[in-house]
Amino acid sequence: MDYAAEIAKLKKEKNAVILAHYYTVPDVQEAADFIGDSLALSEMAAATAAEIIVFAGVHFMAETAKVLSPGKKVLIPDPEAGCSLAESCPAEEFAKFKARYPGHTVVSYVNTTVDVKALTDICCTSSNAVRVIESIPPDQPVIFAPDRNLGNYLKSLTGRQNMVIWDGACHVHEEFSLERILDLKKEYPEAKVLAHPECKAPILLIADFVGSTAALLKYTEEDPSHTYIVVTESGILHQMKKNNPRKTFIPAPPIDSTCGCNDCVYMKMVTLEKIYTCLLTETPQVVIDEQTRQKAQGSILNMLKL
Ligand code: 13P
Ligand code: SF4
Repeated sequence: MDYAAEIAKLKKEKNAVILAHYYTVPDVQEAADFIGDSLALSEMAAATAAEIIVFAGVHFMAETAKVLSPGKKVLIPDPEAGCSLAESCPAEEFAKFKARYPGHTVVSYVNTTVDVKALTDICCTSSNAVRVIESIPPDQPVIFAPDRNLGNYLKSLTGRQNMVIWDGACHVHEEFSLERILDLKKEYPEAKVLAHPECKAPILLIADFVGSTAALLKYTEEDPSHTYIVVTESGILHQMKKNNPRKTFIPAPPIDSTCGCNDCVYMKMVTLEKIYTCLLTETPQVVIDEQTRQKAQGSILNMLKL
């Protein structure tokens, strides 16, 4: 079956829109109406006039769309598409952690479950994290969750010491090997290293540019260099190559070269076939209990207002 053609027909019939993250496989990105980083996708989910949103990404992203658009049907092609970073911060344990630091403002990365967002004052993404932290008065203590690498990076950028950080991480970004990136630099001395802030500190220290997926992509379009070592999930290379056909992009290697762990297994669960089936059957839908949704919405809107 020509899934792309069938999806296009169903989208029209049902007034549906497909939002896809840069880490999904190329044919899913090509079928999408809008591709973006987690911030742009949440803004898009809040703004779209479509009746159905198919979220080609991981579960927390689809949840965020539902929180922002409760009147719309939000479909997730594979509900098993989770996120190791979101899973590293279970809401019950986070509630206990929060109770140990009364009076702190809670900032959570969007890579969290809706229950953690409900315990949060203001969300952030890797695009706006510095802005979010700087919007909080300097003498106000902060809890940052769940990514320890992004948290420590923010601490070093903002010089903010009154920040306690939850000890979570993403399995993809934890696995990149500094040694192997340095070996690649010897092989391609002219290459620039581009890293996502979920990477470990030594990698961020040697990177020429650190940013969200959208920021890394923009950098490759504006920067005059020709070769880049890309230290984030390999799905982003599709748009980088498409938008810069004359440039060379080298995916950074993980510690174990045989593990394929610079791929996010969860993002790769989203296929055209699953998008087609979920549009056809209008299942599975993201369902969130209304009280939790309202609490979580406050933290996301606080971010979008900035
Ligand atoms: P972005 O906010 O850069 O899209 O990152 C999302 C993500 O899951 C990174 O691993
Ligand atoms: Fe989550 Fe990591 Fe996958 Fe991003 S790459 S969705 S943080 S598991």
